[in-house]
Amino acid sequence: MINIAVATTLALGLQAGTTAAFSLRYKSRAATAVPTFPVRATWQIILRNQLQIPPTSPPIQPDTVDVWDIDLFENTNNGQDSSAITYLKNLPHKPKVVCYFSAGSYEVDRTDWPANFDRDLYGKELIGWPGEYWLDINNTAVQDVMFNRIRLAAKLGCDAVDPDNVDGYGEAPSNPGNRTGKVFTLTEDKSVAFIQNMAQLAHDNSIAIGLKNAIEILPRVQSVVEFAVNEQCVAQKECSSYNTFVQTKPVFHIEYLSGADDSHTPITNTTTQCTRYNEGTTSSPNFVDITNLSTDIKNMDLDGWVEFCDTTVKQTELAPEE
Ligand SMILES: *[C@@H]1O[C@H](CO)[C@@H](O)[C@H](O)[C@H]1NC(C)=O
Ligand SMILES: *[C@@H]1O[C@H](CO)[C@@H](O)[C@H](O)[C@H]1NC(C)=O
Ligand SMILES: *[C@@H]1O[C@H](CO)[C@@H](O)[C@H](O)[C@H]1NC(C)=O
Ligand SMILES: *[C@@H]1O[C@H](CO)[C@@H](O)[C@H](O)[C@H]1NC(C)=O
Repeated sequence: MINIAVATTLALGLQAGTTAAFSLRYKSRAATAVPTFPVRATWQIILRNQLQIPPTSPPIQPDTVDVWDIDLFENTNNGQDSSAITYLKNLPHKPKVVCYFSAGSYEVDRTDWPANFDRDLYGKELIGWPGEYWLDINNTAVQDVMFNRIRLAAKLGCDAVDPDNVDGYGEAPSNPGNRTGKVFTLTEDKSVAFIQNMAQLAHDNSIAIGLKNAIEILPRVQSVVEFAVNEQCVAQKECSSYNTFVQTKPVFHIEYLSGADDSHTPITNTTTQCTRYNEGTTSSPNFVDITNLSTDIKNMDLDGWVEFCDTTVKQTELAPEE
């Protein structure tokens, strides 16, 4: 009785004090904190096949990165085995694990599509990615599949998710559905809503989320993501879009090698990719300082090979291809 009375008085006192303070206290007690990622964190990303875990000759390479970005399904026996994630997280320096999945494309080979998934919910094929089709990300049936992937990532121990292909508004705004040709459109507004929904669910499950590319909507979603992942902002001359963001959150940045998709030939001078490059033209230059981006040089296959800005090269061992 007395305890209840005291608790009531305390609760009333807090409410009378400030509602904001009360709700903050309530939230931080309700769930484990969402992981955060420091600016300039180092990383490795591998989306081709499965990592060899444990490697045949440990320690795993690179053995010092802060963050691993790996495929949610390929490294977990389709979501059934968390041992690779646990292994990485338990390395001596305790790196974080970011789990990648495609949020905006229908990948034919994935096994988590509901049996009754409407074929009008995906349309045109992604340019350069046969077997992947742009999804109607504004549809709740599509979002439910992606929400389940976020829940799965949390259950498997991923610290964060890296949902890809959230920028279909740029490549294929108008999409005829794949069965009857019913048209859906992809817009920036729809991507913003989708990312906000995914971010809320990720945070409710105590994991972080990143924004992959989609620079056009960065200002509208930067407050709900913990990091960004970028491909080719130097080649595309758009790294300065991250100037504000990278003051407080990391930008995991990839520049690709030219040449073959499986090239393993390092760049000998990484100044342009890592330090300073001209975002303007030769006659009207605009040099941008990119030293605060977390840059990896990779090949297009995103295999185990990585070159860091100091030109050191590392090779993560992958499981043999089946
Ligand atoms: C989508 O439609 C195209 C053209 O009819 C067809 O070739 C392709 O197999 C379809 N893809 C899927 C995943 O159903
Ligand atoms: C669909 O997109 C609109 C913005 O265009 C947004 O207001 C709405 O919440 C979205 N619906 C879903 C299910 O994401
Ligand atoms: C590397 O490239 C930058 C930019 O092109 C140049 O200024 C610098 O002198 C080069 N460094 C070396 C060691 O060649
Ligand atoms: C990079 O980050 C440091 C703090 O770590 C800051 O002092 C510096 O201004 C940043 N550089 C740029 C170009 O944003």
